[in-house]
Amino acid sequence: MAGSIDANLLRQNAHSPSFFALNRADTGNGAELVDFCIPCNPYFPTPDMFGRLRDNLETILKYYPSSADTITAELCATLGLNPQTVAMGNGSTELITWIDHLLVQESLCTPIPTFGRWTDQPLETGKRVDMFPLPENRDFALDLEAFVGFLRERRSRVAVICNPNNPDGNYIPRRDVLRMLDALVDLDLVVVDESFIDFVDAEPLTSVAEEAAIRPNVIVLKSLGKNFGLHGIRFGYMVANPALAGRVRKMLPKWNLNSFAEIVVFLLKEHRAEYRASLARAALDRRSMERQLASMPGLRVFPSQGNFILVKLPDDKNGVQLRDYLLSEHGVFVRECGNKLGSTSQFLRLVVRPPQDVHRLLTGLGAYLYGTEKAHLISTVSPPDMSAEERPPYVEERPYAEERHYTYEQPPHLQATPIEAVYQTRAG
Ligand SMILES: Cc1ncc(COP(=O)(O)O)c(C=O)c1O
Repeated sequence: MAGSIDANLLRQNAHSPSFFALNRADTGNGAELVDFCIPCNPYFPTPDMFGRLRDNLETILKYYPSSADTITAELCATLGLNPQTVAMGNGSTELITWIDHLLVQESLCTPIPTFGRWTDQPLETGKRVDMFPLPENRDFALDLEAFVGFLRERRSRVAVICNPNNPDGNYIPRRDVLRMLDALVDLDLVVVDESFIDFVDAEPLTSVAEEAAIRPNVIVLKSLGKNFGLHGIRFGYMVANPALAGRVRKMLPKWNLNSFAEIVVFLLKEHRAEYRASLARAALDRRSMERQLASMPGLRVFPSQGNFILVKLPDDKNGVQLRDYLLSEHGVFVRECGNKLGSTSQFLRLVVRPPQDVHRLLTGLGAYLYGTEKAHLISTVSPPDMSAEERPPYVEERPYAEERHYTYEQPPHLQATPIEAVYQTRAG
């Protein structure tokens, strides 16, 4: 039991409870909840965009939005896509559902762990799901050749990969994804779920969406909720050749996108620079957060290109207990991965958040792992700096480099003992 939160809320199914459900429940510590569970962009939309939504609230709620075709045409004009090759959904989950109903006939192959709907949706409709386990000893990186070999052995008809993958954040270089698409041209369908790809900074050109538009059997999927930090709106889109995109579009209701989605899509053109700046800032936060987490003895940190970081707890620590403890004692909500196929409760997926929130997380983690408090978090990690152009001006007035970034230091009275020995003794 976490504080006075009903533990069943935290243990109900393959997905986490919503932020609304948690806020309705009482965390018991009176602190505002910091959400490290649901990956979203903390630096977008801009306060100006939120102001425009607030100012238009009554109109948004009272009137019908334009049809999905009108909103899709505007999104395409902003992103430089051909509307014939695009279908917009009420969240990319709506599109996953229709992709399964329409285009997955008998079997689907996907690496695990991954986003749960890619395994659960086809299982719910009676398809065979061939699950390719990602190896922990290779940081869960996907070996595309081995994946294609596995898929051929199982004779799967549809392949799905997430790039970057959720929950590990591994990114597959674009040229390798294209090679895989070439190798799988005979399949019914290949889906590349790029819901987190805007957060990647490993190479300048990352997406294969343009290729999807001209290939016979490829769909690229994008979740706008994640990129734009607006999960509540529920919008996402897919890119495929006109015939494939049209098949999905035909199934969708005329007004499947709401008026919030319409306003945001029509605001995007004016806010492209701020969006790019928000991604640069999020990438910087990711690097800083990775380094701070890596300074915690016993914690294994997996390199990520998403806006979340996978960590593994020491063998004697339990992610369920830790999640409940962080929620009740520190008002911090984390995702333990015990209900993800191919993962266990020893893994946590931590969303990349601004430094002040990370400090609260590290304080709680340190207290749980080592039984010590924040006195042992010292600000010795120098934060990466960000140029004036890169920094979103509305995010922080002060330079990024002046923020405090922490590393974990063993308490002086324990310094003679290796930290592993310390918590092994405690666990005993
Ligand atoms: C890889 C991946 N694809 C798609 C989705 C669904 O996103 P949406 O909110 O757009 O339905 C998620 C959600 O976590 C995800 O992790």
